[in-house]
Amino acid sequence: MTPPALEAIGLSKRFGGVLAVSDISFVVPAHSITALIGPNGAGKTTLFNLITNLTPPTTGTVRCFGELLAGLAPEAIAARGLIRAFQTARVFPGMTVLENVLTGAHTRIRSPAWRQMLWSGAARREEQGLRRRAETLLDLAGLLKLADRPASALPMGAQKLLEIIRALMAAPRLLLLDEPAAGLNDTETAELADMLRAIQDGGITIVVVEHNMSLVMGVADQVIVLDAGSVIATGTPAEIGRNPVVIEAYMGREDA
Ligand SMILES: Nc1ncnc2c1ncn2[C@@H]1O[C@H](COP(=O)(O)OP(=O)(O)OP(=O)(O)O)[C@@H](O)[C@H]1O
Ligand SMILES: [Mg+2]
Repeated sequence: MTPPALEAIGLSKRFGGVLAVSDISFVVPAHSITALIGPNGAGKTTLFNLITNLTPPTTGTVRCFGELLAGLAPEAIAARGLIRAFQTARVFPGMTVLENVLTGAHTRIRSPAWRQMLWSGAARREEQGLRRRAETLLDLAGLLKLADRPASALPMGAQKLLEIIRALMAAPRLLLLDEPAAGLNDTETAELADMLRAIQDGGITIVVVEHNMSLVMGVADQVIVLDAGSVIATGTPAEIGRNPVVIEAYMGREDA
């Protein structure tokens, strides 16, 4: 049996007096799309930081496809196929769109550096293969015509899509996305939903933090709701939509 893509077991994180994440446990089945939702400050980004070991947890452990991640550097975790994109799009401003996408492949390049410097046939074929893959992904996202533009000149929505494409170049098995729909208009959000389903169809598991409920309801197999650092509900989108505890958590703080 395939182990779950992700298991969080008793994760907590304290920042001084703030318990940002408090004893959180959950399971993400392989090949699913799990949405992580919750009001601002609920602890969603902190949870991603704990999973990728960007921030060491105060307590708890994480397993990715059965393997304990404790003590591994973020780069080592990425090399195991756990790739994340950040809440604030981080494109390299001095590079073109295509160059930005190609940087995502650096954990996957097999030719040693000296061979690349000598520009061996293998390195050149690998580079050409990566370039084709980058162009295919950009085309699917409708960004190929912008491939040679400076990445920083793209609108924020396109920069967010670019960051997902860059993450895909690293050949993830598990992709963590932090608010990918932020700054996207309705058309771009619908394109993003299609993109997430296509990524899932490609066999990749997705965990997505998102405030856009139409996106969450449209793509998620499972929804986990955080409030003030704790999981307050887990279920299908339909179950979550009618859960009084969830409605209360949102209504209590926002006018939505
Ligand atoms: N490095 C830090 N130092 C101190 N407190 C922090 C730090 N990072 C996060 N926090 C606090 O932890 C809590 C959770 O923050 P987090 O960014 O994880 O929330 P979030 O659910 O991602 O919110 P948002 O929806 O606004 O992105 C907040 O109270 C925040 O102020
Ligand atoms: Mg956040």
